[in-house]
Amino acid sequence: MTHAPEPRPTTPYERLGGQAVLRTIVDRFYDLMDADPAYAELRALHAADLGPMRDSLTGFFTGWAGGPRDWFASGKCVMSLHRPLPITPQTARQWIAAMHRAIDDVVGGRDPAIAAAMLDVLKQMVAGMAGGTRH
Ligand code: HEM
Repeated sequence: MTHAPEPRPTTPYERLGGQAVLRTIVDRFYDLMDADPAYAELRALHAADLGPMRDSLTGFFTGWAGGPRDWFASGKCVMSLHRPLPITPQTARQWIAAMHRAIDDVVGGRDPAIAAAMLDVLKQMVAGMAGGTRH
């Protein structure tokens, strides 16, 4: 019996909906950070103009999820970029809380499994940035 070739697995990038959806998550995340006093300490760590961060985080998510890798091709490393920052348990919690809301708002209703998977991996990264394993 012959089998058809296995189809190429769908990347998280495709399943999430590509760069436009990642950009919407990022915009929601920074809008929440900017407007909700629950994230005041996290907001205070960031520059007044969040525009460059919106572009950069969208670029990171794009390559990280399996899409075009331009952000990585520029030689950036997200863990190294955060090493000099004074990240505390409080600001790490605020980052995850705001990102949790943003992901739920944008993809949680349509695809709860990919929303949960994305959040789970981000929680592990944040734990690393907030003083867990440092290389
Ligand atoms: C642990 C909680 C985190 C805190 C407190 C934090 C804080 C910050 C701060 C203060 C900046 C610089 C902003 C500025 O200069 O205006 C930044 C940049 C950035 N962060 Fe985070 N971050 C956290 C977690 C993460 C995670 C988990 C990711 C990725 C999934 C991420 C992705 C980025 C990116 C892509 C940039 C832009 C870097 C650049 O282009 O220079 N951050 N973050």
